[in-house]
Amino acid sequence: MTHTDKMLREGSLTGKVIVVTGGGSGLGKAMTSYFLELGAKVVITSRKLEKLEKAAKELRDTTGGDCFAVACDVRDYEQVEQMHKQVIDHFGPIDVLLNNAAGNFIAPTENLSSNAFDAIVDIVLTGTKNCTMVFGKHWIKTKQKNVNVLNIVTTYAFTGSGYVVPSATAKGGVLAMTRSLAVEWSKYGMRFNAIAPGPFPTKGAWDRLLPGPLVKKFDPAKKVPLGRVGEHQELANLAAYMVSDFGAYLNGEVVVLDGGEWLKGAGQFNMLDKIPKALWTVLKKAMLKKK
Ligand code: HXC
Ligand code: NAP
Repeated sequence: MTHTDKMLREGSLTGKVIVVTGGGSGLGKAMTSYFLELGAKVVITSRKLEKLEKAAKELRDTTGGDCFAVACDVRDYEQVEQMHKQVIDHFGPIDVLLNNAAGNFIAPTENLSSNAFDAIVDIVLTGTKNCTMVFGKHWIKTKQKNVNVLNIVTTYAFTGSGYVVPSATAKGGVLAMTRSLAVEWSKYGMRFNAIAPGPFPTKGAWDRLLPGPLVKKFDPAKKVPLGRVGEHQELANLAAYMVSDFGAYLNGEVVVLDGGEWLKGAGQFNMLDKIPKALWTVLKKAMLKKK
C-alpha cells in the first residue's frame, strides 16, 4: 500500500451526482476522475466549453464513468442558475457541490488595480457564494437531504499571506461561509466542509504563482517538513471520503493537507532545523555554562 493508492472501496459514490466547478483542469479534474471511478455521475463546469468537453471525453474514456460538461462563469448568478438547471435536466437531483474554481496571481498589493483585486474576489468568493446560494436554496425548497458542499480553500485562508492578498481575502471569506452554513443549514440536511491543500503542482497554479525563474528559486517542496509536494491522488482520496456517506458526521471542518507546510512557517523556532547536529552539543555546553 502506498500514499498514492486509491483509498475508498469500489462503488463508494454510486448514486451520487456531483458538480465540480473548475473541473476541467488541475485538482478539479483529478478529483473528478476519482469520483467517476467510485461510481458518481459528475458534471464539470468552468468558462471554457471546448476545454471542458475535451476533459469530459478523456475522463469518460479513462474511467468508464458518466461525465458531462457545462459551461458556466461562476461570477454570474444567472449563469449559475442555468448551469444548475442543465445539470438537473441531465442527471436529476444533485447531491454534492464542489467549489473548486479559482483565480490567482502574485503581485505586490500596491501594484493592483481595483479591477485586478475584484477579478480574484469575484471568482473565488462571489463564485462560491453564487453556487452555494443557487444549490442550497434549491435543496431547501425541494427538501432534499443528505447533501453536502466541499470548498477548496488554502492554508492562507486562516494565516493570511502577502503577495496573494485578493486570494487570501476571498479564501478567508469562503472559510467563514463554510463554517457558518455548516451550522445554519445543517437543519436542512446539508453538510459543509473545506480542504486547505498545500502545494500540489498544477499548470494553473504554477504558471501564475511561480512564473519563470521563481519556481527554481522557491522550490515549494523545500517549505514542506515532509520534503515533498502533494500528489493529486492524495487530495482526491480525502475529497472522496469527505463528500461520501463515510463523511456523514464531518461538518464545518477544514482539513489541511499540506505535509505540515503552514505550521513550519508558524512555529517560532522552526528555523532551527538548519542547525547541524554537531552544533547542538556545542550549544548545550554553552547553555550549561550560563547556569
Ligand atoms: C497584476 C494582474 C495580473 C498580474 C491580471 N491582472 N494578471 N494584475 N498582476 N499578474 C489584472 C489585469 O490587468 C486586469 O486589471 C485584471 O487583473 C483582470 O484581468 P483579466 O485578465 O481581464 O481577468 P480575467 O480574464 O477575469 O482572468 C482572471 C485571472 C486569470 C485570475 C486574472 O489568471 C485566470 O483566469 N485564472 C484562472 C485560473 C487560475 O488562476 N488558477 C490558479 C488557481 S491557484 P485592469 O485594471 O488592467 O483591468 C490557487 C492556489 C493557491 O488559487 C495556493 C498555491 C500554493
Ligand atoms: P487550475 O487548474 O487553474 O483550476 C482553476 C479552475 O478554475 C480552472 O479549471 C478554471 O477553468 C476555473 N475557473 C477560473 N475562473 C472561473 C470562472 N470565472 N468561472 C468558472 N470557472 C472558473 O488550478 P488548481 O491548482 O487545480 O486549483 C484548484 C483549486 O485548488 C483552487 O481553488 C485553488 O485555489 C486550490 N488550491 C490549489 C493549490 C495548488 O497547489 N495547486 C494549493 C492550494 C489551493 P476556466 O479557465 O475554463 O474557467
